[in-house]
Amino acid sequence: MQANLKVRRFNPGEPGAQPRFQEYSIDVHPDSTILDALIQVREEVDGTLALRCSCRASICGSCGMRVNGRARLVCKTRVEHLAPNGEQLTIEPMGNQRVVKDLVVSLDTFFNQIKRITPYMQPDKEPEHGEFIASNESMTNLLTAMNCIMCGCCVSDCTVLEVDPNFIGPAALAKAWRFTEDPRDSKRNERLNALNNEAGGIWDCTRCMQCVEVCPKEVAPMERIMEMRDAAIEAGNTNTSGYRHTESMYNSVKKHGRLDETRLAIDSAGWTNVPRMLDLAPIGFKALLRGKMPPILPHKAEDKQKIKDIYEKVEGERK
Ligand code: SF4
Ligand code: FES
Repeated sequence: MQANLKVRRFNPGEPGAQPRFQEYSIDVHPDSTILDALIQVREEVDGTLALRCSCRASICGSCGMRVNGRARLVCKTRVEHLAPNGEQLTIEPMGNQRVVKDLVVSLDTFFNQIKRITPYMQPDKEPEHGEFIASNESMTNLLTAMNCIMCGCCVSDCTVLEVDPNFIGPAALAKAWRFTEDPRDSKRNERLNALNNEAGGIWDCTRCMQCVEVCPKEVAPMERIMEMRDAAIEAGNTNTSGYRHTESMYNSVKKHGRLDETRLAIDSAGWTNVPRMLDLAPIGFKALLRGKMPPILPHKAEDKQKIKDIYEKVEGERK
C-alpha cells in the first residue's frame, strides 16, 4: 500500500531556517506502522529527516509525534488504520515542547515538570526487614499511574500548557498522585498542600480530557488530578479559588438549574479579595463592550426541578 506523508521539517540550528512541510510518497507493507514508514523515508529517500525511536514496541516512550493534529506513539499506529485509502498523513513534532530538529523535541520541559513534584518516595522511617512491604491492593491501585512511559503525549496536547507554561502538566501531576497514594510515602499531606496552593498546580487543569484521550497507556492523568482535588479538599484545603469555583458552580446549578456566571467569577475570586476583584474589572468591562456580560440575575432553567431531583439522588447515594 502507499503511504503519503506530509512531514513538518525545521532545523532551528540552521541560520534563517523556517518551519516547512515536505511530502513523501512511498510503498509500504500493509502492516507498517507510521514509524516504519518514517524510518523507510529516512533510509531510502531522505537521510536528513530527524526522528527519535528506540523500542518500536510502545514501551520506551520515545516516538511521540503529532499525527493529523493529535499526539500518538507512531510505533503503535499503523498507516492502514489512519489512512486506509492512501489519505495524506500530516506528521509534526509534539506540541508544548521545544523542537530540536524535525520530529525530535527536547524533553527538558517535560523533566523539569516532573522534578517539580519531588518524584521519589519520602518514607519517615527505615524499612524493618530491609524493604518496605506494601499490600497488593495498594500497589494495584497505583498501576494506572505506574504504567506511564514518560512519552510526553499528554504534555504535547495539554490545552492549559498552550497558554500557561507554568502549569505542572498532566504527566507530572499523574506521577504526583502516584506518591500521594503510596502507603510507604510519609509526605502525602505536604504534597497535597503544595499542589493545592502552588500556581500551576491541581486547580489549573481545565478538564478538557485531551490528556486522557491521547495517553497510550491509559494513565488518564486528568482523572488522577481530580482525585487529588478531592483528597486536598478532604484534607481541609478549601481556601483556594479553584475550590470556591467548584463550590459556586455546584451551588448555582443546584439552585437555578443553570450556571450563574457573574456569581461564579466573584465567588472564585473571593468576596473580600479586593486586588483580585480589581483584576476582574477590565475583563468585565471588555465583556460589557462586546455584549458578553452575563446577566446580574441568573437565568433559571425551565425544568430546574428535574435538576434538583438529580442532586437529591446523588447526594442521597453519597450519604
Ligand atoms: Fe505518556 Fe500517558 Fe505518561 Fe502522559 S501519562 S507521559 S501520555 S504514558
Ligand atoms: Fe518506543 Fe515507540 S519506539 S514507544
